[in-house]
Amino acid sequence: MAAALVWAMAVLALALAEGAGALDNGLAQTPPMGWLHWERFLCTTDCASAPHACVSEQLFMQMADLLAAEGWRDAGYEYVCIDDCWMAPSRDGGDRLQPDPQRFPHGIHQLADYVHSKGLKLGIYGDVGNKTCAGYPGSYGHYDLDAQTFADWGVDLLKFDGCYHGTLDLLAEGYKNMSLALNKTGRSIVYSCEWPFYMLPVQKPNYTEVKQYCNHWRNFADVFDAWISIKSILDWTASHQDIIVDVAGPGGWNDPDMLVIGNFGLSWDQQVTQMALWAIMAAPLFMSNDLRQISPQAKRLLQNKEVIAINQDPLGKQGYRITKDNNFELWERPLTGRAYAVAVVNRQEIGGPQLFTFATSFLGNGLACNPACSIQQILPTSEDYGLHNWVSFLKVKVNPTGTVLLKAAVIEEFPEEKLAPNSKKPSLDTL
Ligand code: GLA
Repeated sequence: MAAALVWAMAVLALALAEGAGALDNGLAQTPPMGWLHWERFLCTTDCASAPHACVSEQLFMQMADLLAAEGWRDAGYEYVCIDDCWMAPSRDGGDRLQPDPQRFPHGIHQLADYVHSKGLKLGIYGDVGNKTCAGYPGSYGHYDLDAQTFADWGVDLLKFDGCYHGTLDLLAEGYKNMSLALNKTGRSIVYSCEWPFYMLPVQKPNYTEVKQYCNHWRNFADVFDAWISIKSILDWTASHQDIIVDVAGPGGWNDPDMLVIGNFGLSWDQQVTQMALWAIMAAPLFMSNDLRQISPQAKRLLQNKEVIAINQDPLGKQGYRITKDNNFELWERPLTGRAYAVAVVNRQEIGGPQLFTFATSFLGNGLACNPACSIQQILPTSEDYGLHNWVSFLKVKVNPTGTVLLKAAVIEEFPEEKLAPNSKKPSLDTL
């Protein structure tokens, strides 16, 4: 008996040690991927005047059809997510949330079944406070009931917003209680939070705690379809990297918000920058665009296997900015097998393509190309840069507001004659 108790305690201690740090629901081992309606379709509720853009079951069914039929699901985009404005203005007789009856005539359960039949998962939206940001019923005082309702409907992800949360204590309690309520349902539901974003103006978030309750979390303002939005997100991330990068990992991710690639506001190079840097940042990849009308070029970028592989790298380490040199930024992300993803961003918004030269010894604290590495360019086009060693210099040409994304794979044994011309064995001068 005593031995059994000791054994049970040891198992429990082990489980706690293993689970320490991340929300223990087994989900989001790599950053979740999918589609989310908000940035592109906002709170469009008038289906009479905007039949193809209103927030309705038809919109999500069409996106599910396309995700399954056009290679998106197979590329990893799995969650079809509903944002704000899906609800009826009030709860039903049993106090449960209900969808708008005109726009979701068959209810969320049937929509979930439909989405599941396409091999996809369904995400939904709620709010920790009294109302959602657009003024629909909030979950305050109803966390258990709402979590159970979502689970009964077959929902697989909850984006939980923080408008009308009241005090910071209520905000924290609400986010924690909803996490526990989702867990109690027994259904696997990814929990997407905005807790740190609503805290930050007042108090520094405790990210260790946030990660114990959430699978990913927003820190910064809503993305919109313009370069100024993308660059403000990158600037915020780089200037807070000391507090946010190390906490990210399997089970819990910083969320810089949706991909707006394929819309109206970003140039081609800016779209490349968003894709490359969202991969470096280990960001959840939720596209907010219209999959019914998307250019083949944007589609190729969003479905690029090598970039997605970097985003989904199983090591699960978020990247960071190594240096900012005039108008250039150099970012890197450690990958499995001692490889590194490297992004060179040209922040100059005037003129033409610029050359940036940097030493391989900058990368991975000097270890990425030690003793040698093979370097591939992944974006904007795929190119082989050949073999380099630890005293090489790389020269890349980057368009204004564009990014060159590279991957450096370390090589232990290498034939000297195969090194690229600028990577020959170091002479005394180069050392
Ligand atoms: C907040 C969120 C957005 C979106 C809207 C919906 O602004 O940050 O992502 O969910 O609310 O009203």
